[in-house]
Amino acid sequence: MNAKKSYYVTTPIYYVNDRPHLGTAYTTLVADCLARYHRKKQGVQNTHFLTGTDENSQKTIEAAKKAQQEVPQYLQKMSAAFVQCWKDIGIAYDDFIRTTEPRHHAGVNFIIGEILKNNPEDIYMGEYTGLYCYKCETFYKKEDLINGCCPDHKTPAAEIKEKNYFFRLSKYEAPVRDLLQKEFLQPKSRKNEMLGFLDKGLEDISITRENAEIGIPYAADPSHKLYVWVEALMNYYSAIYKTENESMLSDGVHLVGKDITRFHSVIWPALLMSARLPLPKMVFGHGFFTINGTKMSKSLGNVIDPTDLAKKYGQDALRCGLLSSFELGNDGDFSMKDFEAKYHSKLAGGVGNLFSRVIKLAHKLQNGRVSPAPADPKTQATYEKAMESLKIKEAYDVLFGAVNTANEILNKREPWKQKDNAEFIQETFDQIMPFMHAILHMASALLPEKHKTMKEMLGQDGNLGEPQQLYPKIEPEIVKNQ
Ligand code: MSP
Repeated sequence: MNAKKSYYVTTPIYYVNDRPHLGTAYTTLVADCLARYHRKKQGVQNTHFLTGTDENSQKTIEAAKKAQQEVPQYLQKMSAAFVQCWKDIGIAYDDFIRTTEPRHHAGVNFIIGEILKNNPEDIYMGEYTGLYCYKCETFYKKEDLINGCCPDHKTPAAEIKEKNYFFRLSKYEAPVRDLLQKEFLQPKSRKNEMLGFLDKGLEDISITRENAEIGIPYAADPSHKLYVWVEALMNYYSAIYKTENESMLSDGVHLVGKDITRFHSVIWPALLMSARLPLPKMVFGHGFFTINGTKMSKSLGNVIDPTDLAKKYGQDALRCGLLSSFELGNDGDFSMKDFEAKYHSKLAGGVGNLFSRVIKLAHKLQNGRVSPAPADPKTQATYEKAMESLKIKEAYDVLFGAVNTANEILNKREPWKQKDNAEFIQETFDQIMPFMHAILHMASALLPEKHKTMKEMLGQDGNLGEPQQLYPKIEPEIVKNQ
């Protein structure tokens, strides 16, 4: 039995037909924030953060053709673009998996093998006629299409007629329903949505393609390749398969957007049940945000590159701008106007101003010496409660609340007016410092870029460091989509 308490957080693996954008950065930042919190809480060894790229898709072939590149070169270039972007915006993952890697193929073959061994009747050959959207690599029911078009991509769905291998998903309707009735899928709104979907009945799904140009061969009949969605889901296992982290599957927290919750909360657990492998702990289907009220799309030209924002405003600004504006399960909106306003009020004028104000005052009034103080326990407990329940916006609110409290103490007591009253000054800092340390504690996950600088400023054993500027004022961007 695995006695250690571990935390395994994953993002979806992203398609490589597109560069990383603010939407994919969002989920990745959420995962990074949770991973940093858990590393601090239960240790680096017991925390594992996985992200990666989903490469065996027909979209890849088309995008490579469009870019006039060979598929392997195209894949290399695009997955490298994700790696670079995550570096630029301050993501510290433990592992990055590409579904073209041999280790993924090995993990997938293992799971399929376990299904065939434990429940051989779960995979069978059948004929499939269906309506397929190549852009989301998904089959649709006729009634779910709008004038024959994919509801997301608005392009006509193709009619596909093939002899394929099927997975007996229908067999798992009852156990999946039982699972969804527990805490497996969050938030509640997604759980209800998915239970409603199950009420319509689960149909078996086709899991192979005969004429796919790219993909993992189905070992039992290599003339077929596995359906991209089926093998992509398996990345969460293949990345840890035969490693010291293999037992972490049951600690898995899969963060996904609401667009792909169904795959993760219905198909993935059913495949694992069939293979008799442990189920992850939770799927969290977060909301989507729009840009100025409009869906983000290349054709509308409103796609924002997260690297640009991180370069201009800093990594903390990007993280705080995206994660503190709306609760994880809800939909939201992003605008440059709000982003810049928040940067100036909460970071430059909030956290940054407080740190420089307190450190400067302590140097002036107390020679940079304060009594050593632990983080305010109530603030810390409220923050931890929020993070444990994935309420990241709430966690930022706790941090901003601590900034306000510290400022209020200063404004009320005005220690600079009582320069000769050493006791009063000492008392003032005794009241403020627990909040400064609580902010430092929270910053390790919420504002990690400047965490080290904050730590230097708060010094050690009550000997404060030098004041430094954390978040400079920045001239507003003239953005076309404002
Ligand atoms: N390759 C599949 C996932 C396979 S996982 C086994 C895929 N890739 S994707 O590149 O299209 O990424 C979709 C994910 O990007 C969403 O689930 C979500 O996490 C994120 N987002 C994309 N646009 C977004 C918003 N506008 N808002 C929030 N998240 C967004 O689907």
